[in-house]
Amino acid sequence: MNKQIKLLQSKEELIEQALEICLAKIQEAISQRGQCTIALAGGNTPRPLYESIATQNLPWDKIHVFWGDERYVAPDHSDSNQKMARQAWLDRVPIPPTNIHAMPTGAGDPEADADSHDAHLRDFFQVSPGDVPSFDLILLGMGGDAHTASLFPHTDALQISDRLITVGNKDGQPRLTFTVPLINQAGCVIFLVAGADKQAALDQVFAEKGDEMKYPSRLIQSKGELHWLLTGVNI
Ligand code: 6PG
Repeated sequence: MNKQIKLLQSKEELIEQALEICLAKIQEAISQRGQCTIALAGGNTPRPLYESIATQNLPWDKIHVFWGDERYVAPDHSDSNQKMARQAWLDRVPIPPTNIHAMPTGAGDPEADADSHDAHLRDFFQVSPGDVPSFDLILLGMGGDAHTASLFPHTDALQISDRLITVGNKDGQPRLTFTVPLINQAGCVIFLVAGADKQAALDQVFAEKGDEMKYPSRLIQSKGELHWLLTGVNI
């Protein structure tokens, strides 16, 4: 693992830094493998990053977009992570609709939707049962409780190691989420963390020893590059 922590002076600088890494990774993946696979985060912090990516002239047909987690709501619901990313980025660029791999939320059964997206990922990446595909880039946020994606403290999702997608649980509400092994297999993971309300969680996540079940972001130890881009906190 190649872990880098950067403390930026402002949200604008954080987004600039994130954009730089994203563009480099997109270019690298396309030149090496002919396509780039990216998983997006929800929350407010990444929105300006998505808006900036939308202004770039990129080979959109070679970029495949996924989500690291999704609330269990319809795609046009105001809580939908997909909706936010479509508004800020995907609806503004000529990306082929088949390159947008949203998490399904329409079965009325989160387990069934998790199964079908798990199968979709296995099929897309052509991985054998038991193998874990490697995303080129995964963007993550972190909540004040140290959750990331929809891996919430003390929930079953944290321990799932034989699936790519599972059902997370926020205060009894189901979410779909990437599992820890899938995130950790990525070539590059970027955490975007802004604001003093993240300080206490960050201290626990960066502490040498700690409880992964209580502070789930501690579980993210990706095999590739791991970037923590921070602003508004002390380290
Ligand atoms: C949620 C939020 C959450 C979010 C983090 C960070 O679904 O509970 O979307 O997962 O990503 O709380 O959000 P900010 O980056 O906006 O602080």
